[in-house]
Amino acid sequence: MKKYNVGIIGATGMVGQRFITLLENHPWFDLKVLAASERSAGKKYSEALGGRWAMKEEMPESVKDMVVLNATADIEKIASEVDFVFCAVDMKKDEIKKLEEAYAKAECPVVSNNSAHRHTDDVPMIIPEINADHLEIIKSQRERLGTKKGFIAVKSNCSLQSYVPALHPLKKYGLTKVLATTYQAISGAGKTFERWPEMVDNLIPYIGGEEEKSEVEPLKIWGTIENGKFKYCDDVAITSQCLRVPVSDGHTAAVFMSFEEGKKPSIEQIKKDWAEFAGEPQKLNLPHAPKQFLNYCEEPDQPQIKTARELEGGMAISVGRLREDSQYDYKFVCMSHNTLRGAAGGAVLLAELLAAKGYFD
Ligand SMILES: NC(=O)c1ccc[n+]([C@@H]2O[C@H](COP(=O)([O-])OP(=O)(O)OC[C@H]3O[C@@H](n4cnc5c(N)ncnc54)[C@H](OP(=O)(O)O)[C@@H]3O)[C@@H](O)[C@H]2O)c1
Repeated sequence: MKKYNVGIIGATGMVGQRFITLLENHPWFDLKVLAASERSAGKKYSEALGGRWAMKEEMPESVKDMVVLNATADIEKIASEVDFVFCAVDMKKDEIKKLEEAYAKAECPVVSNNSAHRHTDDVPMIIPEINADHLEIIKSQRERLGTKKGFIAVKSNCSLQSYVPALHPLKKYGLTKVLATTYQAISGAGKTFERWPEMVDNLIPYIGGEEEKSEVEPLKIWGTIENGKFKYCDDVAITSQCLRVPVSDGHTAAVFMSFEEGKKPSIEQIKKDWAEFAGEPQKLNLPHAPKQFLNYCEEPDQPQIKTARELEGGMAISVGRLREDSQYDYKFVCMSHNTLRGAAGGAVLLAELLAAKGYFD
């Protein structure tokens, strides 16, 4: 595989830091550019970070002295130095939309962690194991943007990256109704316990905008492409509640599901479908693809955050406690690492899929 030069827009943030650790020694991607706001621009990365480095791993030597560029003022320069950028910034939604389109129009593809473009008609929102086929919409997007190479592809919100993968192989049984309550880690808000001491021994029963994302984004992921636009799936109804819990990393979901009359699979069949499920990343053997995507735990007190979140480098999903329910057909719990599978890791896997399919050439 050819090597691609890569930039990170929002390199000083929580997700940006995670990108840095994932791209160190990446077999296909060479990290060439770090960019952030004007507050950080012009400083060496280690100086711009100050005390904000929040990863367990040490800051790689290779980035410490890299001078941070200005994400908005240096677009042309960045676009000329890299083959594509990862983007994870804390800005207003309309500013992010403009910023990402500006990179795409400068012929620099954008793999985004931001929510701004998730519902743009011709922007694919990808969980690589589930809807890799949605990448074909990039052709229509390039026509709209008037670009040869530039485009935007996004990953979905972290909240749903445990239960949508678990539900996906069961859709063939006529999945009709889903109730999902999520228990989300503080790193999902870009925080650590040091920076958010109020979260120790606490639970906040509200995460702004998260329930809407958790209910609607799966419908785009399960949607179809018609006339260069996405038509959202309309045969599954999802309702959700999202809670912030005192966990550093790892989002758990408690899920209830029902199927069409007469199509309800057995517990054994569901476990078999989960065990056998593999998508494009596994078939293409992408560098960050987990070998086993969905992992069922038979022990009644699993999956637990501390034992399950690092499974396969934080890229695998853990599922457990599948059983019959009195109101729905079944209930189960599932968890995924929110800053790996749910954020930077999911974006790196998406970029690997795009690279393997020639979208950066
Ligand atoms: N944390 C997660 O698990 C997670 C998961 C999925 C998606 N996301 C999304 O990813 C994005 C970043 O999240 P985060 O947790 O990494 O946020 P964060 O830790 O607050 O980092 C924000 C980043 O944005 C940069 N930034 C802020 N204003 C800017 C501007 N005007 N121009 C250019 N860069 C600017 C900051 O640079 P300075 O340091 O220079 O200010 C910093 O690099 C958000 O859209 C978030 O919703 C996060």
